[in-house]
Order: sequence, then structure tokens, then C-alpha cells
Amino acid sequence: MSASITDSKSAELYARALNVLPGGVNSPVRAMRSIGRDPIFVERAEGAELFDVDGNRYVDWMCSWGPLIHGHAHPAILAAVAEAAKAGTTFGAATAGEVELAEEIARRMPGVEMLRMTSSGTEASMSALRLARAATGRDKILKFAGAYHGHVDGLLAEAGSGLATQGIPASPGVTAAATAATAIAPWNDFDAVATACAEHELAAIICEPYPANMGLVPPHEGFLEHLRAQADANGALLIFDEVISGFRVGPGGAQELIGVTPDLTVMGKVVGGGLPAAAYGGRRDLMERVAPAGDVYQAGTLSGNPLAVAAGRATLAMLDEQAYLRLSSTTHALAEGMREAAGAAGIPVQVSEVTGLLTIFFSEQPVTDYEGAKACDTEAFGAWARALLARGVYPPPSQFEAWFPSLAHSHDHVERTLEIAAAAFAEAASR
Ligand SMILES: Cc1ncc(COP(=O)(O)O)c(C=O)c1O
Repeated sequence: MSASITDSKSAELYARALNVLPGGVNSPVRAMRSIGRDPIFVERAEGAELFDVDGNRYVDWMCSWGPLIHGHAHPAILAAVAEAAKAGTTFGAATAGEVELAEEIARRMPGVEMLRMTSSGTEASMSALRLARAATGRDKILKFAGAYHGHVDGLLAEAGSGLATQGIPASPGVTAAATAATAIAPWNDFDAVATACAEHELAAIICEPYPANMGLVPPHEGFLEHLRAQADANGALLIFDEVISGFRVGPGGAQELIGVTPDLTVMGKVVGGGLPAAAYGGRRDLMERVAPAGDVYQAGTLSGNPLAVAAGRATLAMLDEQAYLRLSSTTHALAEGMREAAGAAGIPVQVSEVTGLLTIFFSEQPVTDYEGAKACDTEAFGAWARALLARGVYPPPSQFEAWFPSLAHSHDHVERTLEIAAAAFAEAASR
């Protein structure tokens, strides 16, 4: 299972890819530049394991960045998609499946009475902001440093994830006007939120309730409640971006886990079961402003695509209480094992965790915001991640991303990963 980064098929594909795809990839972090290696070209995957074009096998802790909570190629999801495909791949017309999926989402998510499906999380967050602005008659929004809500122009201001990874503070091509309406506060900073609310007439506060795009940085106790109270006191809406946390940290996402109900919720990843689907939803009075019920325009040729809806329904149908208990125990076993393995090698790390998500920060200090995440030893993380890949474990290819345990990860996968992680920590310590 050793994986050399100069394996011939990968190297050949990468050379060809560089000629026709910017950076050789269709989304930046896949290029693996921030951990100092070339991308992996995947041939196939099954359960919790991924196989590259050179025949190397990996325990996959990314699971496509979150959608695959049941692992790769789950038979029930494949069967649902195949069945749906037989009836036609897209109609651009209403279907029974999308009504049933919407009813199921509304049943699970406390803050969602109605919703609109989109094809990507980016579209969903962009549309939620448009609705918030229309509903409040205000322009400004507050976001948090290190949070990522997709590549929406106005939100590409000090965003985390791909941008932080590449050290680009914002993107050329985003107009000053687009980001002028965006205020930014440090995550977990109670006073900064109060100040921003006092200074600006905000349409909305948007946050990832469990931010996972600067690595996983959970909210401090009472912080989400503070956001709710500040939004209410200042006539702003509260938007939770649960693209990652939704249906992952618990059946009703972070909003149910923590008990804070937002006005609008952005969803993606798990809700599409590995096919392109996302959604935004919320209070009925707000969602009824969306066209054609109301006057706020938003549309999509493939929105509510029947194959994606089938995958989403099959995915949610298997997410019962037992599933979350199992996911929680897998996550915790991996997190605890990582703490022990790093400790044994004398490598200082901070491991943050919540059901279905964790991050191993190479830091001596607890990480509570983006500044803390940026202060991590990213060189050491990169070397450790390369060592994991070389031994058959696929970690996040950046310090600023979360690990995505799935229901396909067995006790053996955890054990194999921890053995390899221990060897990689030992290698890092001897450097
Ligand atoms: C929290 C969050 N919001 C929105 C998005 C954007 O979703 P998409 O990549 O489907 O556009 C992402 C993507 O990773 C995300 O993590």
C-alpha cells in the first residue's frame, strides 16, 4: 500500500491535467499544494477505502469533503440512484421525490419550515443572503474570519479553507463593492459581534455553527446563543451555514445539538448523498418571499435533480439514532487515539472534535479562532500528512480542513489509521 508521489500513471495524468485544467484540478485544495505534494488521481472507492490509479489503497478520512456519511458507493444509495436514473435523469419539472425529501428535511431541522433546493452550497448561501437582504431591507452582513460559505463574491473576504490554504487574503476579480457590504468578526469573540451589530445595520449574521473550514473550531459555550440574541436585538436575521454540520453532528444538525434556532439554514453535502444537491430553508414567512411564491428571484435548471434527490433520501433514511451513536464513537476513538499517538511522540497537537468531524491542529495552544488556526505549524502538518498518504491513510490535504469520519469506518480502519499516524508522528519527531 505504499504510495509514491512519482507513481507513473498519476504523474502522467497530472502532466496532462496541468495542460487543460488550472492547477490540474477542478477545485483548488485537491491539488494538495499546501502539503507539498502532487494530487492523487482516484480510480475507485468503496466504503471507507479509496484506490488510486496506481493501485495504492488508502483509508479515506475525507469522504469527498463530507457528503459521504455512509462511505463510498453504499449499495442502498447506488440502488436508489440507479432506480431513479431508469425513470430519467432530469425533467426540469416538479417530482414527488423532492416533496418527500423537503418534508424529511423539515422534520429533522428545527429551523426549517420550507426550503428551496440548489445544486451547490455556494448557490444556497448566496441565495440565503439575497433573501435576508430582501426581507430586512438592509445590505450589510456579518461573517466570521476563517469561515467559508462557498465562493460567493461578497463572502470572499478573509475566507478560510482554500484561500487560507493558499495564503490569499481575498480573490482578484471580487469587486470592492461586493465585499464593502461584508463585516468580519473573529470567531468566538463575543464583544466583536456586539460591536459589529452596534456599528452596522445588519441584514444577517452568517456563521458555520461548527466552523470546519479553518479546521474544526467549535463555538464557545453560549456563543451561538449570543449570536441569536444580538441578531434579535438588532433586527438582523441569523443564518446557520450547515453545509458541513447538517445531518452530520446530529440528526437535526448543530441547531438541534446546541438548541439555537436560526432564521435561515444553508444545507449541502450529506443532503445530496454524494450527488450535486444543496438547499436553503427557514421560517415560512421568509421562504414565502422566494419566487414564485414571492418576489425574491432564484432558480436552477438542475435544482432538485431526481438523481440527487434519490441519493439524499436514501442517505437520510439510514441516519437513525444508532447511526449517530456509532459515528460519535468512531470520531471519539480516532480523536483520542490521535492525542495519545502525538503525545507518545512528543508532538504538541490540539485535537478538536464533534460527532462526524475532527481536526488535529499542530499547535501548543488551544485553537479558538482563525488567528489561532493560522499560527499552527503548517509545515509540520504537511510533512505528517505526506507521511500518512505514503503509508495508506488519506487525511485532509491542508491544516485548515476537517477529517470526515463516516459510518463505513470500522474499528479496524481506526486502528490501522492510528498505527500509521503513530509512525508518522515518530518520523516527525525524529526530524
Ligand atoms: C460551510 C460550507 N458552506 C458552503 C460551502 C460551499 O459548498 P459547495 O462547495 O457545494 O459550493 C462549503 C464547501 O465546502 C462549506 O464547507
